[in-house]
Amino acid sequence: MSEQSAMKKVVILFSGEGHNMEAIIKKLHKKVQEGAKNCHGIAIVAAVTNNPDAGGIKRAQTLDVPVAVLDHKAFESRESFDRELISCVKSYHPDLVVMAGFMRIVGPQFTQTFRAVNIHPSLLPRHKGAKAIEQSFQSGDRVCGVSVHHVTEELDSGAIILQESFERSGEDTLESFTAKIKSIEHEIYAKAIKKLLCD
Ligand code: GRF
Repeated sequence: MSEQSAMKKVVILFSGEGHNMEAIIKKLHKKVQEGAKNCHGIAIVAAVTNNPDAGGIKRAQTLDVPVAVLDHKAFESRESFDRELISCVKSYHPDLVVMAGFMRIVGPQFTQTFRAVNIHPSLLPRHKGAKAIEQSFQSGDRVCGVSVHHVTEELDSGAIILQESFERSGEDTLESFTAKIKSIEHEIYAKAIKKLLCD
């Protein structure tokens, strides 16, 4: 077996800046996972986006990860986009699909076809949905954090894989609070992926 074929394959889905994707690629891509029981390593075989203007396209390409663009606006229905997305992702034979700021809701066909995970900027089940950082910040929650979870048909509701929390400071602004969340995200997503695929 070649080193490459012994690697677990990951496809990342993203829609925006791709900072989480970049952190994952830098931490995991083709690195030998010392002490791992179930893999020699992890290869990010492709990054797929629904947004032709996503800043993450350049980030992935700079790190030598091939990018596929499937503009959802070019499809007449959610189902037809989902079908094309499934066929595109399948062509890379991933062991795991990693959603990193992918701003499309996927249908049951997708969740039944792939093992997929997502990162969410709150301590789920608190603050599901697209405004999680703002809602966490405005809430009275003393402890806030980040969750990595399995993707199921129900938005932000799959089983938790890893969570990390922090105690909020009264001095935090939305900006400093967001920076804390992002820095946790960039650490725990790679850890969670490694745990799932290799430990
Ligand atoms: C992250 O905050 C993630 O939690 C959420 O979308 C954001 C993506 O940011 N699901 P980036 O594209 O990784 O910079």
